Amino acid sequence: MFPLSVPAKQLARLQAGAWVLDPFCGRGSTNYAARLLGLGSVGVDSNPVAAAIAEGKMVATSAEEVAAACAEILATPIEAAPPEGEFWTRCYHPRTLDELCRVRAALLADHESPARKALRALILGLLHGPRNKGAPSYLSNQMPRTYAAKPDYSTRFWERRGLQPVRVSLAELVERKAFHYFGSTPPAVPFRVLCGDSRKLDLTASGPRFSMVVTSPPYYGMRTYVPDQWLRYWFLGGPPAPTYQHPDQLSHGSASEFAEQLASVWANVALACMPGARFMIRFGGIHDRKARPRDIMQEALAGSGCQLRVLTVRTAGLSSRGKRQADQFQRSLGAPIEEWDFYVRLEGGR
Ligand SMILES: C[S@@+](CC[C@H](N)C(=O)[O-])C[C@H]1O[C@@H](n2cnc3c(N)ncnc32)[C@H](O)[C@@H]1O
Repeated sequence: MFPLSVPAKQLARLQAGAWVLDPFCGRGSTNYAARLLGLGSVGVDSNPVAAAIAEGKMVATSAEEVAAACAEILATPIEAAPPEGEFWTRCYHPRTLDELCRVRAALLADHESPARKALRALILGLLHGPRNKGAPSYLSNQMPRTYAAKPDYSTRFWERRGLQPVRVSLAELVERKAFHYFGSTPPAVPFRVLCGDSRKLDLTASGPRFSMVVTSPPYYGMRTYVPDQWLRYWFLGGPPAPTYQHPDQLSHGSASEFAEQLASVWANVALACMPGARFMIRFGGIHDRKARPRDIMQEALAGSGCQLRVLTVRTAGLSSRGKRQADQFQRSLGAPIEEWDFYVRLEGGR
């Protein structure tokens, strides 16, 4: 995630009525910044977890409606067998898992209303995290909050430490957290969050043309967005185990292949932009020290076949200096890497 202040600063100078696009929206920071400024926006992400969280940030609902949606589901009889295996019995108390599976099944069958979309996003954030003193903040046994550890690693970890899952009431936790996240929300704005591949999705179909694109593509070498979120992906209908294949994610075979894929995203995005649209792209890389992120992005912009003119390239500093994309991956990183902000203008059109 980039900090909210990054898109907020870029979007602040847009006129009322302008539309904003983030083709790699992740958890929707750009879209939420647009909402705070009263601007319409579209966000695209091929990871269903990211798209669901981004959508939850944009819907118009209230804490009361979210808590009521959860209570209503739990009061309705529904068959939902829990997944089998040691991971599941050690991760969640049986009654908590039963509630979770019933809410999962109900939301898979229907998540159309804003309250249900918000509930889905809220529960994604409660699925796993550290065990704290006092009222529990997460549903799971001890786990990191930002990514889901793999099942075998988790079961060994809990077994060695004798950690048992505690009973957490889903309805109570949802109610408490709903007031935290949805107690006071900014005014609603027009938006769409699309779960799909930005290389191929028809972005012109979403309606208005975009005046500004603010985005942060996957950094070259960061390929674990989906497997790191496997438990959240399960809640959205994925399998009850990590998945490693995700064809709609950019692949990281080589730097030039990566640049080519990014070029196809910029070409597709340009089709949906107004002439003169501005782009702000934050980009870095971890995988291959020989492939410089600056070169990859220059190659991708030049290879798009559109008149994308780079106005300025500025360093965003080292990832260790602030809360930036690379920080999420500290466990797999060595030295901090440099991140760059590219300011680009679409001349004329395609
Ligand atoms: C750096 S993250 C974006 C973070 C975002 N700026 C935020 O603040 O939450 C990059 C995102 O690109 C998504 N992604 C990767 N390949 C994609 C593709 N082909 N189409 C759309 N999204 C893709 C990943 O799932 C990931 O969520």
